[in-house]
Amino acid sequence: MKTKIAVFVSGGGTNLQALIDAEKRGEIPSGKIELVLASNDTAYALTRAAENNIPSVVVKRKEFDSQIAYEEAVKTILAERGIEMIVLAGFMSILSENFTAAYPKRIVNVHPSLIPSFCGKGFYGLHVHEAALAYGVKVTGATVHYVNEIPDGGEIILQKAVEIQEDDTPEVLQKRVMEQAEWILLPKAVEMVAAKLQKERG
Ligand code: GAR
Repeated sequence: MKTKIAVFVSGGGTNLQALIDAEKRGEIPSGKIELVLASNDTAYALTRAAENNIPSVVVKRKEFDSQIAYEEAVKTILAERGIEMIVLAGFMSILSENFTAAYPKRIVNVHPSLIPSFCGKGFYGLHVHEAALAYGVKVTGATVHYVNEIPDGGEIILQKAVEIQEDDTPEVLQKRVMEQAEWILLPKAVEMVAAKLQKERG
């Protein structure tokens, strides 16, 4: 049986699209995207899910009194669908140890820099590329890592470097990092982890 995967999203969902396309090409033979969970109902990622007949659900943090109540609701949804593995693909909500500890080495995240540079609290989306350009690094990239209670602090699975060019803007750099690193690395890492979980299950 394939590893049942949920992809958590908040925005455009180009990484979700990369996963959907890879799955269609047969490049994720050990896993299947069973659910897309969005943190808000305006995420374009939800349209991508619908277009590909993937069930989706919106769970908003602000509709719960506490972080724990929110996370317990998410856990229930995942348990109901037998989800075994979670992919954070541009998911902008924080998950506490209460959640991450329930899925040890079963949550992966894609981050648009070479961790440990430009990561942790406050480093997300375009901000990461703004920070890389402001620092003046000549090489950046993307990292796929396991998620634990430390923001961007879990074990690294895959990394790929991307060169910065002289006239880069954050937007131009973001697109290059996505095209040359994120959209390639994420499906590869997802297959690696899905295969490992499938094997462990026996
Ligand atoms: C991606 O660049 C992803 O690496 C980043 O947000 C973007 C989402 O784009 N994630 C983070 O910064 C997490 N710290 P997408 O919605 O088009 O996949």
